[in-house]
Amino acid sequence: MSGAQRRSVILGTGSELPAKVVTNGDLEKMVDTSDEWITVRTGIKERRVLEEGKGNADMAYHAAKRALDDAGIKAKDLDAIIMATCTADYLMPSSACVLEDMLEARKAFSFDVNAACSGFLNALSVADSFIRTGQIGNALVVGSDALSRLLNWQDRTTCILFGDGAGAVVLGASENGHGGILSTKLRTDGSYAKTLYVPAGGSLKPARLETVRNNEHTITMNGKEVFKVAVRSMEEISRQALEEAGVKIEQVSLVIPHQANRRIIVALADRLGISMDKVVVNVEKYGNTSAASVPVALDEARRQGRIHKGDIVLLNAFGAGFAWGAAVVQF
Ligand code: COA
Repeated sequence: MSGAQRRSVILGTGSELPAKVVTNGDLEKMVDTSDEWITVRTGIKERRVLEEGKGNADMAYHAAKRALDDAGIKAKDLDAIIMATCTADYLMPSSACVLEDMLEARKAFSFDVNAACSGFLNALSVADSFIRTGQIGNALVVGSDALSRLLNWQDRTTCILFGDGAGAVVLGASENGHGGILSTKLRTDGSYAKTLYVPAGGSLKPARLETVRNNEHTITMNGKEVFKVAVRSMEEISRQALEEAGVKIEQVSLVIPHQANRRIIVALADRLGISMDKVVVNVEKYGNTSAASVPVALDEARRQGRIHKGDIVLLNAFGAGFAWGAAVVQF
């Protein structure tokens, strides 16, 4: 028995963004839209797109390598790889298995978690539980998605929003009871399943010539509904995670929210009563990178020196499902 004080600590972070940049100007040539419309409604200026012939695990690999280097841990010593994604390389096996092989992390068990844009919070929470119960001593947690593969590039209501990327953290165990992951909270409401979804390609509607012709393998969304529920839900779950951690909002040094839309982030900060200088925003560069968005923003914030020892950071995310979550972490 490891004792009640055993906690998970973030030992390292890493991220990877594909080199190909698609600007709002590029999208103006593809659909009836404008840089001004996209900027005002979303804050997004450009996004990255994974090159053809590469899969999700290729991005995840580079993010993972950087996180492992940062943590000073070798892949062969990993106990677990938990990868949040809704755009795995294959329908089976999991992308975590593909990544395990690329990293030669032979000791690790690996699996994917699919909670769409909220997936990284779910994966973090699962890994945290394994560590706190003493089942494992460390874990690589990755959020990696290539939503460009699920976009209808003729649909201006969705193709402007998303981009590709990967972020990773390495978790270790601490027995001293100070810092680390103080709380995680997860929620879902499946009654919204069809508010944001990809209709075909699963067991209900497998890939057929007809489904491809009908563009049913691409994202279908009611953006207004997503917007409304996202702000309310992320506020609520953030407050629950803070309460469970015994942390007041004034003690939070930095909020790292899911990067879906600048307006959602500003509305959330306003409802939480936290000023925007304490909120990480990089949506203008990458768009919504789904499960990658929180770990990419976390990695950038760390590398920019925005997180210091002892700082308390609030992470939160929201996405298809609807699924949402929050975590409070002390560095
Ligand atoms: N360029 C120009 N016009 C566009 C457009 C685009 N890319 N996309 C939609 N429009 C048009 C609409 O057709 C509509 O025209 P109409 O009034 O003639 O019917 C008008 O702009 C307003 O559309 P609407 O959907 O009401 O805009 P909105 O203010 O709700 O903004 C989103 C749309 C998608 C930016 C916004 O709803 C949003 O960000 N939602 C959250 C989506 C999200 O984050 N999803 C992922 C969550 S993980």
